Amino acid sequence: MKPLKKIATVCAVSTLAFAMSACGGRGGGTSDQSGVAADSGASGESAGSAGGDISLGIAMPQKTSQNWVEAEQMFKDDCAEAGITCTLQFANGGVAEQQNQIAAMIENGVDVLLIGAIDGSQLGTQLQQAKSAGIPVIAYDRLLTNTTDEDYYIAYDNYGVGKLQGQALLEGLEAKGTPTPWDIELFGGSPDDSNSLKFFNGAMEVLQPKIDDGTLVVKSGQNDFTKVATQGWKPNNAQDRMSSLLTSTYQGDEVPDGVLSPNDTLARAIITAVEQAGKPVPVVTGQDSEDESVGWVVQGKQYSTIFKDTRLLVKGAIQLAMEAAQGNADPTVDGATVDKEQYESMEGHAVTSFLLTPQIVTQDNAEEIYKDDAHRMELVNAAK
Ligand code: BGC
Repeated sequence: MKPLKKIATVCAVSTLAFAMSACGGRGGGTSDQSGVAADSGASGESAGSAGGDISLGIAMPQKTSQNWVEAEQMFKDDCAEAGITCTLQFANGGVAEQQNQIAAMIENGVDVLLIGAIDGSQLGTQLQQAKSAGIPVIAYDRLLTNTTDEDYYIAYDNYGVGKLQGQALLEGLEAKGTPTPWDIELFGGSPDDSNSLKFFNGAMEVLQPKIDDGTLVVKSGQNDFTKVATQGWKPNNAQDRMSSLLTSTYQGDEVPDGVLSPNDTLARAIITAVEQAGKPVPVVTGQDSEDESVGWVVQGKQYSTIFKDTRLLVKGAIQLAMEAAQGNADPTVDGATVDKEQYESMEGHAVTSFLLTPQIVTQDNAEEIYKDDAHRMELVNAAK
């Protein structure tokens, strides 16, 4: 912590050089002269905030779903309100780019690092450097693994997301009323994202007993995570796999009764594949409450999604980062449950985790769940 409070300016920039020159780090100050995305009106001084001169480095992954994109503006606004200096970068080029971005943030002396990893197992070297420099590391949304240098984890309860998806699939199938056994297919997220297995295992905790008792049949036989994962969270990979499944396993009029999809982007790709095959749409789950899927859920085309309100996650992450920067050894996050056992970054090394509660959304409860989100309420009303 530096003794003098200076005017904080939020920077969201796309190139490393600009990030560092425009936003600075320890002692770097701020500059509006770079001509890049120095957020207007982002002075924390006027808000009378408690941020002091904390500088936060935010490393984000690729924009594989709407929640990552939305987070950028929220970080800008909330960093400004808190009066802290934030440098936010996406690593659209992949893991090596993210490693370089984090290394440069450390080099430039940020006070705290917040990391939404592409592949949380590949950042060990950078995290070690952060540890040596005395910079607290917070994992955002995705747990960092293969490291003991991670201080905190903040996320929605992603295992719980999987459970909600499994339950929604069963409920959707029951509501449809077709006789059992129900044919289903399973899709997973990208194998390099530590959340993907959590979503899948959470869902399988609910679905496996129903597979074992014969209520559900994974007709393709592809029920192992490695077989059902979707590399890079890319919708075309899910669409291609769904199309192949329809050709290989569901001849003629046949179609699965339900499909477990880990998020909305993939759900829409799966539904598109079914529609292109000219077949009726099964019960399909999702996650993220993405714009298009909110409409599809309200219209009954996609059975469910999940609401992980990004506003709360961003606010919580900033609160945690500020407490960590200020050296609070026992930080708290409003509205989050603290878990000190469940999330291990390495075997036997649990990370103190702050978990927010995800909510399932279906046609029946969409209005209730989104009532405090004006944007999503507009989508609901437009789709009705
Ligand atoms: C996030 C999901 C998102 C997925 C793809 C996961 O790590 O938790 O919300 O759908 O990444 O971006």
